[in-house]
Amino acid sequence: MSTPIRVAAVGDVHLDRDVVGRYRPALADLGERADVLLLAGDLTRHGTVAEAHCVAEEFGGLPVPVVAVLGNHDHHSDQAPELIETLRGAGITVLEGDTFELDTPGGRLGVAGVKGFGGGFAGRCASAFGEPEMKAFIRTTSDSADRLAAALAKLDCDLRVALTHYAPVPDTLVGEPLEIYPFLGSYLLAEAVDSVPADLAVHGHAHAGTERGRTPGGVRVRNVAHPVIRQAYSIFELSRSAAPR
Ligand SMILES: [Fe+2]
Ligand SMILES: [Fe+2]
Repeated sequence: MSTPIRVAAVGDVHLDRDVVGRYRPALADLGERADVLLLAGDLTRHGTVAEAHCVAEEFGGLPVPVVAVLGNHDHHSDQAPELIETLRGAGITVLEGDTFELDTPGGRLGVAGVKGFGGGFAGRCASAFGEPEMKAFIRTTSDSADRLAAALAKLDCDLRVALTHYAPVPDTLVGEPLEIYPFLGSYLLAEAVDSVPADLAVHGHAHAGTERGRTPGGVRVRNVAHPVIRQAYSIFELSRSAAPR
């Protein structure tokens, strides 16, 4: 059995001043336990720069690279560029259609990340039909899925992880009201994950959802929203010889 790549991940940490210190103690030994930490969006409560500084305080200066995507909450104050600048200032890599690659003892890891968007799932999904607003909604999702597929395809790595905020599959939404599924994710993201395919897909956003799922192509999906995993982070082991599905 070859050495695995160890991916730590958590989403929906929703930092604000009163949350600072909730995660940090559990991150003390992260360097011995993981090769990288992924943050699956909703890093802040309302997307303010002050909250981004709280994220920087909580997740900056860790012994492993920290790679994030933004979530819908991080856009609420229309300050996403300032948020990203603050996070990057703390050494946190923020992906939106970008890639991150890292050499580890277990091989070269690639991460492709986008926030993603809603639209729903096959058989029950919105389509680009009718009003311009509806077409714009779906175009937002399909553009995001296209950026994810392109980023995954660009990775020249042993193992690949797709990092999103919105869910690629409905499996990990079980527990959420059915009525809001279309606002929690899109099957187009799963199509992107399957197009390469990735070895693991990690997302957040569905606080009342379920941890485990699988894309139609068989890629394992994990909802790492903090209220779901109920710990500072989960660790996933990826192996070149037999990438777990
Ligand atoms: Fe959230
Ligand atoms: Fe969210």
